[in-house]
Amino acid sequence: MFDFRPADDVSVFERYRQLCEAADALTQGERDPIANMANVAALLWKFLPDLNWAGFYRMVEDHGARELVLGPFIGRPACIRIALGRGVCGAAAQLGETQRVEDVHQFPGHIPCDAASRSELVVPVLRNGAVIAVIDLDSPSPARFNDEDAKGLERLAAFLGERI
Ligand code: SME
Repeated sequence: MFDFRPADDVSVFERYRQLCEAADALTQGERDPIANMANVAALLWKFLPDLNWAGFYRMVEDHGARELVLGPFIGRPACIRIALGRGVCGAAAQLGETQRVEDVHQFPGHIPCDAASRSELVVPVLRNGAVIAVIDLDSPSPARFNDEDAKGLERLAAFLGERI
């Protein structure tokens, strides 16, 4: 049994440090990307408050065309395929850059998977310089994610590049 849980009353930095430590322990030595993404989605849900969706979209190549396809997540059922450049996830995947959106209603092309979502943080996962997936967090609160969240999720994404 795994019983990872965040300590109470810790800084955002410390919360992500503990999340990364748990993710490292859970994925170390396991080569299956689906298993690792599923466990990390569960950890995101457990460690980060005020979310309504947490999980992965994977970069998939089909007949020479690349697009994002839904991966392991916690939350409401979500749209399955996202073209590069579309919505918040598609922007992060195409640009290879974190997208932190304080109000999703103001983001051109935002794809509403859950009407409750108000803010969103999407971080690309890179391997050998190429985007292989994105981590997507949605919150029902406006401006839920700050720069510390973005940096914390980027630290997680940095080592997941070799684990998923
Ligand atoms: N809102 C995202 C789509 C994925 S869901 O939030 C789970 C977007 O605009 O890319």
